Parts: sequence; structure tokens; C-alpha cells
Amino acid sequence: MKDFILYSGSSNLPLAHEVAKLMNITLGKVDLERFADGELRPWIQDDLRDKTVIVLESFSYPMDEHIMEMVLMGDAIRRCAPKRVIGVIPYLGYARQDKLHRAGEPISARVIAKFLEVSEFHEIIGVDLHNDAIVGFFEIPFTHVSALETLANQVKKRDISNGVVIAPDVGGVKRARNLAFLLDLPMVVMEKRRFLDKHDTSEAYQIIGDVRDKTAIIIDDIISTGGTIVQAAASLREAGATGVIALATHGVFAGEAVEKLTHAPIEEVICTNSIHLNGDKKFASLKVVSIAPLLADAISTLVR
Ligand code: R5P
Repeated sequence: MKDFILYSGSSNLPLAHEVAKLMNITLGKVDLERFADGELRPWIQDDLRDKTVIVLESFSYPMDEHIMEMVLMGDAIRRCAPKRVIGVIPYLGYARQDKLHRAGEPISARVIAKFLEVSEFHEIIGVDLHNDAIVGFFEIPFTHVSALETLANQVKKRDISNGVVIAPDVGGVKRARNLAFLLDLPMVVMEKRRFLDKHDTSEAYQIIGDVRDKTAIIIDDIISTGGTIVQAAASLREAGATGVIALATHGVFAGEAVEKLTHAPIEEVICTNSIHLNGDKKFASLKVVSIAPLLADAISTLVR
């Protein structure tokens, strides 16, 4: 009998099942029933006394519902006298609200960290946070896992001898540098302008470096509306890139993203299953790679 147990919220059951399979366990039983008015009442149906309890939940759309699921499950679990509780958050929604972009706005990523602490999670495992500094919003230990190598391994299956890694904005330079190192390729940086008065709107501004006759490998943490990647791809092609591959850990694919990416000058979009994608979020050039082995490893390290 293992002395740990893994629960899943409703956001990404396929990933939770995959992790459970790799760890040779079955998922714990929880009823995530809602009242007629939409209120959630989680009910844990296992004996958790003195066990390490792990809860996997992606804070993907509808993120507010998934966050409530996580924190209410956390509270239900702590009342069952467990030894400790570990939250596994493959995608941390609200991570992009990590600083005061203008006066009068919240620092939402910090608020989410506080929610998790109040629900008495003792440790968190997260994947490719929008900004490494978000770890500092948590008073509890945070294991920050990266899917960069998993993504890099997919790219290595292609001929990338003339490749160049692209940071689509200045905030992504460290991520791109790390990928360039893994692929042994040079790196080019793009400048992006965001418009604070228009949500989800950005503009590729300039390319700092040479992409002519090269395969551009764009790396980002998140593809949300697709605006960043699609504009970057168009500018790179205009600047003479012969092909574009786009990599991102988190495929949010909000709004018109699928439509935009389907018609973009991008050969392949590779993302992970940190967010569960329904059929209508899939498109021909999309390849999804699994982070289940990464999560199973990270969990095993904490429960051994
Ligand atoms: C922004 O700083 C992020 O790293 C991504 O570039 C951004 O969130 C992507 O959003 P969208 O796909 O809507 O352009």
C-alpha cells in the first residue's frame, strides 16, 4: 500500500491518468458535484490520515472554476489529517499578471499563491512559469519543472542544421537562450509591443539578428490568442526565414487562435498537454507532447 494518493480536478483528467499510470497507482476518489446554483462541494472519499496527498489541476479555462476546485479540495483534504499536501499545477493561469502593469490593477499571480497557501498546500509543482520570479510569491516550497527539453527533443527529429531559435519578445530571452543551448543553435530576439488599452493585442516590432535562409524556431511559454506567434512568424518570413516552427509549453488557444494558427506561415506548432485540448482546439499543424513523465518524476522525488 502506497502512503501517497493522487487526486485530479476536472481540468486535465487525461494527464492525471497518464501520471497515475506511470506511477503505477490509480486516482483517488473525489466527487466534484455542484449545487444547482453552481456552487462546488468537493467530497473526498478515501482515508487520508498520515498520507501524502497530491492534487493535480491545471488553471486553464474556465480558470476561476478550476482554481476554486483546487482550493476547496485542498481544504477538504487538510480536514482528513494527511501528512502533507502537494499541488501539481501543469498550467498556472493568471501567471501573466505577475507585476503591476499600471496603477489600479492587481498582482493576480501573487493572490493565487496566497489562495493555495490558505488552503494548506505544503508544496507546489509548477511547469514553465511565465516568469521565474513567480516562485517568490509562494512562501511554501515550489518545484519549477521545465518542459524545454521535451520540446527540444521533438525539434531534434527534424533537420534543423540551418535553424535559429527565436525569442518572440524580450521577456522570453532566457527561455530562448536555454533552448538554443539544448539545440546547439544561435538565437535571435524579437521586440514586441503590447497595448495596455487593448487586451490580448500585440505587435511584432523588430528582429534583432539575422534569419535569412534559416528555419526559425520560435519558443514561447504560452500561446493564447496566437497573436504573438502568428505575427512573429509573418515578420520572420518577410525577413527571409525559409520555414517557421513554433514551440510553447502551454497551448491555451483562446478566441480565434486555432483559425489564426491554421492559416499562419508555420509548418508545425508543438506544445505540451499541460492544458487538456478538446477536439475543437486541435489543428493539422499541431503536435502535442506529454509532460506526464516530467510530472511523475517530480512527484516521485517529493514522495520517496
Ligand atoms: C507574453 O509575454 C507571453 O510570453 C506570450 O508571448 C503571450 O502570452 C502569448 O499570448 P498571445 O498568444 O495572445 O499573443
